[in-house]
Amino acid sequence: MFSKKISVIAIACLFSATSACANPAAESNQPVTSAAHPWANKTLTADQRADLVLKEMTQDEKLKLVFGHFGSNMAWKNHQKHPDAIPHSAGYVEGVPRLGVPAQFQTDAGLGVATQGSGPTAREGTSLPSGLATAATWNLATAYQGGAMIGSEARATGFNVMLAGGVNLLREPRNGRNFEYAGEDPLLAGSIVAAQIKGIQSNHIISTMKHFAFNNQETGRFVLDAKIDDASARMSDLLAMQFALEKSDPGSVMCAYNRVNGAYACENDYLLNQVLKTDWSYRGYVMSDWGATHSTVAAANSGLDQESGWEFDVTPYFSGALKEAVANGFVAQARLDNMLRRILRTMFDKGLFDHPVASGGKIDYAAHALVTQQDAEEGIVLLKNNAGLLPLMHDIKKIVVIGGYADVGILSGGGSSQVYPIGGLAVKGLEPAIWPGPVVYHPSSPLAAIQRQAPQAQVTYNAGTDLKAAAKLAAQADVVVLFATQWVGEALDATTLSLPSNQDALIAAVNAANPKTVVVLETGGPVTMPWIKQVNSVLQAWYPGTSGGEAIARILFGKVNPSGHLPASFPASESQLPRPVLDGDPSKPEQRFNVTYHEGATVGYKWFDAKKITPLFPFGHGLSYTQFAYSGLNSTVKEGNLHVSFKVTNTGKIQGKDVPQVYVSPSASKWEAPKRLGGWDKVDLLPGESKTVNLVVDPRLLGMYDSATKTWRIAAGTYKVILARDAGDLETSMVSVKLPARTLTLQGKDKK
Ligand code: BGC
Repeated sequence: MFSKKISVIAIACLFSATSACANPAAESNQPVTSAAHPWANKTLTADQRADLVLKEMTQDEKLKLVFGHFGSNMAWKNHQKHPDAIPHSAGYVEGVPRLGVPAQFQTDAGLGVATQGSGPTAREGTSLPSGLATAATWNLATAYQGGAMIGSEARATGFNVMLAGGVNLLREPRNGRNFEYAGEDPLLAGSIVAAQIKGIQSNHIISTMKHFAFNNQETGRFVLDAKIDDASARMSDLLAMQFALEKSDPGSVMCAYNRVNGAYACENDYLLNQVLKTDWSYRGYVMSDWGATHSTVAAANSGLDQESGWEFDVTPYFSGALKEAVANGFVAQARLDNMLRRILRTMFDKGLFDHPVASGGKIDYAAHALVTQQDAEEGIVLLKNNAGLLPLMHDIKKIVVIGGYADVGILSGGGSSQVYPIGGLAVKGLEPAIWPGPVVYHPSSPLAAIQRQAPQAQVTYNAGTDLKAAAKLAAQADVVVLFATQWVGEALDATTLSLPSNQDALIAAVNAANPKTVVVLETGGPVTMPWIKQVNSVLQAWYPGTSGGEAIARILFGKVNPSGHLPASFPASESQLPRPVLDGDPSKPEQRFNVTYHEGATVGYKWFDAKKITPLFPFGHGLSYTQFAYSGLNSTVKEGNLHVSFKVTNTGKIQGKDVPQVYVSPSASKWEAPKRLGGWDKVDLLPGESKTVNLVVDPRLLGMYDSATKTWRIAAGTYKVILARDAGDLETSMVSVKLPARTLTLQGKDKK
């Protein structure tokens, strides 16, 4: 069982980096100590320790640390992995045993310990629900606990670098990797991913933050050039990353595949040297994505600190070529030393020297299954619930479950983040079988879990492939639970937002036969729902992870009161999007093209607001089996900062968790959109219970970024503070507040 004690420690660790937050298993490992290794002295700062070891390193040793190997064999290149890499892993960077510098063992990533490639050798582990599902919890403690859990599995498997921390903004609902990220709002996405990174790093390992930046679609990801102006970038995608960085201090930042305003992200002086290292004062190191390094001199001088998985690049840029470039002065020795200082300092700072990893650690899979279940239970969103269909009664007699392989498992997303289930794939032989496949169903059967909730009921399964047969069976049921799925994965975007494989027709036919139909969606991100007016109840389950079947059943039967809220708007159709047709041609992967972000910072709900378009479901939407009332909205300005308080009361009959959202909106000055999310809370209330919520709005969310002066400017004037249930909530409470003019630094402090 996942003990209460662990969860309390985990929550405390959100706010602290003390040794109490260490993985207890790690404490037994002996630190590297030797009189000849003065950097082993833990009383020195990470900077001092890094300098001491750097002084002792030869040029060849230095070059080892900036040069990453792929951790798996590449059959198509007839290439064997580095002998010391952990088999089927993402990467390996040699250490310097002479000096006690540990090697870096890198694993994907954000949902758990992944395996490159599949087959009988796949490493098994616990998978969190998708990143979007965790974002849908709006619960920082849950995100932290999930991070701490997967980080502990990484450590126990021998990894000290986790390539997690995906925070690319959901600009493009068809993006095949949205399931790895945290939605469309900079504050929500940045905060959730930061909590996860902190959880991972509490295990004395490094987490990345990725993919820096504008890797917002997979179509043409290796060649596309994302075009966006500086101010819009800093108020959208970069702001999400800045928040994530400020709140979690990830050891590494992974630069992306694509180009940004002309230059590849991994040789982009603007992104790496100016924004990240200068403006944000980032002290960690930049590693490239696998195959994202395109040069030696330009990359090194533009801020790349470590080439990853060199086998994916055209040539080993940061090996002999870098040595030569330093020798002939194209790259300064000081720049190479700076790469080393960043890498070594981070390794000291995050605990890689003092808490060495070893494989073969014990993993409490049963406890971890409960951590991921709790995440799923908070992230599943009740989108619609008419006619009191949900929660289902435990004494129901006849339940028909249709589709989605719900008899055996739940779906996950494909690509490098794929965690292989304990016990193997629930469904074998699905296409695509090769990367980013295989299509993996975790063996957490919703059907079995539903049966456990209603032991007396006759529960029948139908695959849903024959519409007529499914509808006929549905007609005889007291209730129908219909599972619809959309598989997406890395390197592949959804070509459309429609559910694939005729599932819209299946839903329409089954619902027509029996209106007591609950639709459960397992999708990578937003999908369209042409049948929404007719269907009474819809549950968005995302990819719900290792214990997803159990989580879904417990919500269906009211064992858990749903409390997930959408981290992204669900459009009614593609025609509502800034780009009704996705840029690029998937059949011509080599062909360069531009993706012009003409919408600038007007992303997600901001776009729908600005264009006065009503989406299918707004950002922030999510229903509960109880009701909440808001009162006493008040806002004050203290030392220039906007403080907001209000009361939330559970007015219903059962316990539940609410996500009250505060949006801010200027009355006179013009922003990129009418309103922005300024803050939220997740409150757990017993029936009749009330709680007062106090929030402080990050002042940058009240200003506009000014590129010329690199400041945030808040215009003097009246601002609306809106307390809402979601971004489309029109019956909101609202107060006005007068703000003085302010000029803020990049970090949101008053400019002197
Ligand atoms: C992905 C990264 C991943 C890396 C290593 C790349 O294809 O874009 O997110 O960390 O592979 O597996």
